Amino acid sequence: MSVPSDFVSLGALHRELEELFLLHQEALMGMDLPVARERLSRYRKELTRHLEAEEALLLPELPRAGRIRGAAPELFTGEHQRMLELLAKCQDAVDALEPSAPDYRRAVLRVFDMESTFKHLEHHHSLREETYLFPALDSVLDATERQVLLAAFLARTEPPSR
Ligand SMILES: [Fe+2]
Ligand SMILES: [Fe+2]
Repeated sequence: MSVPSDFVSLGALHRELEELFLLHQEALMGMDLPVARERLSRYRKELTRHLEAEEALLLPELPRAGRIRGAAPELFTGEHQRMLELLAKCQDAVDALEPSAPDYRRAVLRVFDMESTFKHLEHHHSLREETYLFPALDSVLDATERQVLLAAFLARTEPPSR
């Protein structure tokens, strides 16, 4: 992603991450475990990097916008923690899948159920950021501050190999 001029544009990064998760689910649906596992662990790494960059760079600027109902910094960090915990459980469940097990298909369905809960949490959280956090940052930071912070944020979220 080239450096945008406003924070609201960062919503595109959420869509990219969601796409990566869907690719993992497509592989799982096709019972291609090696690919499903590889895509899930890539997603987890990229999501973790995204959340860490938000906590290190974006959330510290949020208090400048004053208290916003539904957008306290600890609300975002609490959701980050819950997302990472649930994602770790999803990954454990995917790692534990055993194609020769008699209940293999049921076990895959259970993974989809768990991942559905994760997706709801992730969607809700991303929406909260797109509704409150990003517009708040756009309103309190001047053009130069936005440019510097957005560049730093993208540099930190970009995968090392890209
Ligand atoms: Fe976040
Ligand atoms: Fe985010």
